[in-house]
Amino acid sequence: MAIRIKNEKLREIRNSKGLSRKEVATSLGMNEDRIVNIEDGRTGQTSNTVKYIEALCDLYKINKSDIINYDHKSTKVVVFGAGKGGTGKTTTAAEVVYHLSKKYKVLAIDGDPQGNLSKMLGFQEIKKYNLFSLITIPENEIESLNIGNYVFSSRLNNVDAITFHTSMYAADKIINQRYVPMGIFKKIKEILIEEGKYDFVIVDTSPQVSTYTMGLYTISDKFYVPLDLAPFTIDSLPTFLEALNGAKAIKTSLWPGEEFKITGIIKTKADMRQLIAKEVSNFIDTSLPYDVLEAIVPRTTVIEQAQYGSQFMEEYDAASQAARKLIRAYEKISKEVEK
Ligand SMILES: Nc1ncnc2c1ncn2[C@@H]1O[C@H](COP(=O)(O)OP(=O)(O)OP(=O)(O)O)[C@@H](O)[C@H]1O
Ligand SMILES: [Mg+2]
Repeated sequence: MAIRIKNEKLREIRNSKGLSRKEVATSLGMNEDRIVNIEDGRTGQTSNTVKYIEALCDLYKINKSDIINYDHKSTKVVVFGAGKGGTGKTTTAAEVVYHLSKKYKVLAIDGDPQGNLSKMLGFQEIKKYNLFSLITIPENEIESLNIGNYVFSSRLNNVDAITFHTSMYAADKIINQRYVPMGIFKKIKEILIEEGKYDFVIVDTSPQVSTYTMGLYTISDKFYVPLDLAPFTIDSLPTFLEALNGAKAIKTSLWPGEEFKITGIIKTKADMRQLIAKEVSNFIDTSLPYDVLEAIVPRTTVIEQAQYGSQFMEEYDAASQAARKLIRAYEKISKEVEK
């Protein structure tokens, strides 16, 4: 378990209370140099340091958790995207959220205007604070953004969410008019990493690769492309891969030295008895320069039945053979995501 200390806040707080370092040092029986080192962040994170900082928090009458995060997680952002509708992006994002949440703290971000992921997590209505209102805040408020306002705990244990808005595409116009169009996405990622509240942030995206979707792509540490083994899947790829070049350029400009890339392709809705499924599968294996996950998601109507009642596969039916096959595939996929 990693500890993260916001040392710099301690100076501000001491000043706001009108206390000198000397006064603080005297009342805690510490050396004044130690206070200087703590406020400058030159202390490391030993248990002694934590004890001194806890004593400071008590003296200032502030919550220790405002200064010390006792369980700082190294957050990984995982994005699911594809340039074709109905490939299983939302289903995959949702099932992965479900499986990861058994072991990890997860934040789900719903970038699909249809809001299916939000609905499965128990959010039927559009909230006042949603992904749209988050990414369209006035540009001069980005620096002081409090992302906590936009995050809600879901019906699943360990899962919080930033929920959907049906007019997500309207965000593009606002973003494009900004001085730094993609600055909001950089800020969101930085806050998530800095706060370290989640092990995984899982992002579902829309099939239309618009500006805001591109922004969501760029915050990925891992980017997976679910592709259904169906007609038109191959046709959708050239335009999509070209759009990804845009995401590459944006990512490099936001984070010099970092590269946007596809982590892996996930074959979905596969009925391997069908010739078309075999052909698309073969095309993916042999003609694309990307890793392909070994687990293939089988086509089955039980997942549709589950989703019709806003349930995850295991909640709806964990026992039938079809359900078990699908669950096993998503367990394996979740293991890959976890790595
Ligand atoms: N493995 C599967 N077998 C059968 N049907 C599936 C499977 N996975 C998803 N579906 C169904 O296919 C449809 C599309 O799935 P989903 O919504 O996950 O795709 P999507 O890529 O998010 O779509 P969109 O591009 O519209 O956001 C849904 O009705 C879903 O229930
Ligand atoms: Mg979707």
